[in-house]
Amino acid sequence: MNETIRILKNRKSVRKYTGEPLPEAVKQEIIRAALRAPSAGAMMLYSIIDVTEQPVKDELALLCDHQPFIAQAPFVLVFLADYQRWMDYFRFSDVSSACETFGRQPRYPAEGDFLLACMDALIAAQNAVVAAESLGVGSCYIGDIIENYEKVRALLALPQWAAPIGMLCFGYPTQQQMDRKPVERLFDGRAVVYANRYRRLNDADFAALVSIPERETIVDAEAVNPLARLNPGQHNYIRKFTADFSLEMTRSVKEILKNWQGDPES
Ligand SMILES: Cc1cc2nc3c(=O)[nH]c(=O)nc-3n(C[C@H](O)[C@H](O)[C@H](O)COP(=O)(O)O)c2cc1C
Repeated sequence: MNETIRILKNRKSVRKYTGEPLPEAVKQEIIRAALRAPSAGAMMLYSIIDVTEQPVKDELALLCDHQPFIAQAPFVLVFLADYQRWMDYFRFSDVSSACETFGRQPRYPAEGDFLLACMDALIAAQNAVVAAESLGVGSCYIGDIIENYEKVRALLALPQWAAPIGMLCFGYPTQQQMDRKPVERLFDGRAVVYANRYRRLNDADFAALVSIPERETIVDAEAVNPLARLNPGQHNYIRKFTADFSLEMTRSVKEILKNWQGDPES
């Protein structure tokens, strides 16, 4: 197994950090690795906000479903799907005269542009994760950055076509985090990877393929916690899919899309 594969296989999300700050050179190395990620048409349809101000981290910790460790991370990057830079550059480049020459109808960013920019942003983020891991720096994605869009937008001064898509917290892992058992996946490769075409799984497949991982937290809490009696499907449905944060995500993403597709703000 080569070093890259070893790093990918051993990575775990890290949510508790030693107090040690990341040297500037390490941060820059992580950011440079992100910027070298594959990018649709090499357009880099994303931006990265390096959150250095403690009050902004504190606010993000609250807005992202109250996750205090965000405020304690020494290095926090927000990844934005960003067409604003290109729209501004298009204007600067006088694209309207090019449209006249080529008979093109001017347009604004739409759904397809949004999704492509999301891809760009998250691929860059994952480069940052892998680079950090290789430097001994742990990381954790914060999907909840897509909640509370209006407040996140105001906090980070986001223009119309720059939408929050992912956030990463980085820091040196505590010993406890390094010793933690990896999180098992419910579905193994046979349930996830298909040859040539999609195959919906049936009841027999689920019975055979789903390996129920040991759930420490559930077992520990069994005596007092009714969630402990749920099977993994029920558990995920209750704890994730129908939880308040999921409902807020849906509301917030509708606002992101409404805003992205709305009339140009200026
Ligand atoms: C899109 C995405 C969003 C996530 N959001 C959060 C989050 O808001 N808070 C958190 O603690 N972990 C978050 N995680 C980390 C996952 O919980 C973690 O990757 C998963 O439990 C598997 O554990 P591992 O990364 O240690 O293998 C997120 C991961 C991804 C990929």
